[in-house]
This record gives sequence, structure tokens and C-alpha cells, in this order.
Amino acid sequence: PLGTEVDARGRLRIGGCDALELAREFGTPAYFVVEDDLRTRAQAFVEAFRAASPTAEVVFASKAFPCTAVYRVLAEEGIGCDVASAGELASALRGGFAPRDIHLHGNAKTEEELAYAVEARVREIVVDNADEIDRLERILAERDARQRVLIRVAPGVSPDTHPSISTGGPNTKFGFNPEAARDAIARLRASERIDLEGIHFHIGSQIMELAPFGAALRAVSELGDFGTYNLGGGLGVQYTVDGPQPPSIEEYASAKVRLVEEVFGPGKRVIDEPGRALTARSTVTLYTVQSVKRNVVTWVAVDGGMSDNLRPMLYDARYEIDVVDRMTGPQPSEDDVVAHVTGKHCESGDLLVRDARLNAPRVGDVLVTPVTGAYGHAMANTYNGSPRPPVIFVSGGDARVVVRRETREDLFARDV
Ligand code: LLP
Repeated sequence: PLGTEVDARGRLRIGGCDALELAREFGTPAYFVVEDDLRTRAQAFVEAFRAASPTAEVVFASKAFPCTAVYRVLAEEGIGCDVASAGELASALRGGFAPRDIHLHGNAKTEEELAYAVEARVREIVVDNADEIDRLERILAERDARQRVLIRVAPGVSPDTHPSISTGGPNTKFGFNPEAARDAIARLRASERIDLEGIHFHIGSQIMELAPFGAALRAVSELGDFGTYNLGGGLGVQYTVDGPQPPSIEEYASAKVRLVEEVFGPGKRVIDEPGRALTARSTVTLYTVQSVKRNVVTWVAVDGGMSDNLRPMLYDARYEIDVVDRMTGPQPSEDDVVAHVTGKHCESGDLLVRDARLNAPRVGDVLVTPVTGAYGHAMANTYNGSPRPPVIFVSGGDARVVVRRETREDLFARDV
């Protein structure tokens, strides 16, 4: 990530700190967030969308990294916030987002979540289904309140990504298909308490091409002309040196705005909801090697795994991994070893990186996996009684814990 470099001795530095010293001080596994990287990327999004259109807005899809300190940094950088549950809404408020900058999502919002959002006076609720409209009408009537909404439409477009994170196809659980959307739009327009501002779609995640957004806009253009178009998130990131490269933030922003203008003309309020592209590259995870074993291949086992990074297991996601004080360069050296780096969990699928090239890996080595700032901490779990790792912000040579490591006592904290 930006702000991270390898020094002359081949040792990794993170946010101006020596990685090996960070591992000694804070233990492993642990997530290290380069705060400057997070801020720089947020600023790049804001500037790119502002340059593309004065009426564009950037909203952080906070499911990617829902931790108070991350909310706080992104609120300070002047972007909005998308929350997908009451829990994320509470965290966003705690992190300092103003209700007028918050958007509530979800395909199964409960009565409690809708009431909380209405009472908190969030900017928009993104309506997903007809049952939710019933529930929202009742909640608003009981409170004599009004609410602005967007309607989520599934435009029937499937970008080239993993099926588990493709969300806009013809048979998805998210939103209204265009047929059903017509009826819902008529109903929302007739509502006395709901103000329909426009359309939302989110076609998927880890997207590398821009054409599917144009196809989605053409599909929703049949529903009429609105003031607001929220085009969801989805901009992919590069996880590995030889992995696919996404368009730049500038290309992405200008293409999304241009596509809206092509279909609907200028002056629309265009909203974008990046998650991954804002946070992924800000963060690295450090692990410590616990065992090196030779089977058919070499297996390097570390002190974390699917409890701190579920993505390899869920999506066959690929990552880089390296020894922090013997970082491999582009040229292989003769004591490099190709190994499977595996976690500590009781499943064969708990594989962090397949066929990793590591320099002479041995017990006690500290390993680094870059690009873990999106959906890592977010999907962390306590499988096999693993306390979840801390989140540590690093900046200008200083490190501070923003989420402490879970303790063994925390694991029993809810026992009754
Ligand atoms: N907006 C909505 C309505 C979403 O559902 C999502 C992500 C986003 C925005 C942000 O998408 P992004 O810019 O991060 O691609 N756990 C998976 C990703 C699931 C994404 C869910 N929705 C992963 O680790 O790849």
C-alpha cells in the first residue's frame, strides 16, 4: 500500500514503522491500517467525482470496514456513509457521521431497523421490496414522519465477477426487477409520507470494467426520469502483482458520471458507494509462522487464517504473502521456497495463499498479507475460539491501537 516500502535491508515498513517491530509490539495476527492511505484514497474519490460533476456524492459502503476509527476518518474526509443494518447505523453515528449523510440499505430490514433510521433522520432509505414499503408506511404514520427514499432496482446485468458478489442479475434477492419496480414507483409516488428521490442499483463487487454500469443505466432508464441515481459501488482492486487491474478512480468516476449524462442528461445527483476501493489497499495483516512442514508440497502454517480473512475460502480470493524481513523481489533467489500458506483452523479449505514464494520460511517468521482492508476485519469471526485481531492505525512512524485484540474473556462475555 501507499506509505509502505521495503528498506535497503529488505525489511518491510508500514506507515513509517518497521513491520517486525510492529509485530513484536502488538502481537499477531493483527491488521495495520496506513491512515494516510485511507485519507488519500477518500480524497481521490471526492476530487474525482467533484471534477466529473458538481452534483456527485461519494458514500462509503461501510460494510467493507465497519470500525469506529475508520468511520471517523472517512467522516472527516467529507464523504457520506452507507449502512446495511442497525449495527452499522449505530457505528456510523458513533464514528461521527451526521444523519443527513447516512443511507440505509438492506434486503430484509426489520421494523426496528427502519424505525431507528427514521428516528435518527437518515438521509435516505433504499427501499428493497414491497413488504418494506408496507412496514415503512406504518412506521411513518405512527410517528407522523416523512422519509426520503431511493428504490433499489435489479437491472438484469451481471458483471464479470464471482457469483457470490454479483447482485444485479435477473434473479437476485436484491431489489425490484424492472417490472415490479414500475408498480412500486407508482405506489411510492402516491405515498403521503414517502418522498421518492430516485433509483439505486448495485450490480456487484470487485468489478474491473465500466461497460456493465452503462447497461444497467439503460435498463433503469425505462422506469422514467428521476433527480437522483445511485450507481452503487463495485470498483475492484488489484490484490496480486499479476492480478487484474481496475480502472483508476478518476476513470471510474468520470465514466460513471458520463454514462448518467448520456442516458439522462446533465444535472443529476449521482451517488457512488465505494467500499473495497476505499479501504482495501490501506491495510496489511501480519501473521507469525507456527510450523513449516513438508508433505507433497511445503505447508507454512500461521497463527490466523479463515477467522481473520474469509475471502480465500468464500471466493477463492488470491493474495500476496511475504516474510517481512526477507521480502522477495521480482527475481527468485535460491533459498526461495514455494509453499501453501495455511491458517490454524480445522478445515483443509483454510488456505490463505496457494503456491506462495517465500524466502526460506521458518518458525517465528512474521508474514505480511497486503490489501486486507476490505471485508477482512468486517467478516472476522471467532471460529475455533480465536479471539479476533486488533486494528492498529499507523501514520508517520507512530502506531496506535484503535480496536484492541479480543480476549479469551470476551469469548465468554455473553454467557448467561
Ligand atoms: N453498495 C451496496 C448496496 C453494496 O451491497 C455493496 C457491497 C457496496 C455498495 C460496496 O461494494 P464494493 O465497492 O465494496 O465492491 N464480502 C465480499 C464483498 C461483498 C460486497 C457486498 N456489497 C468480498 O469480500 O469480496
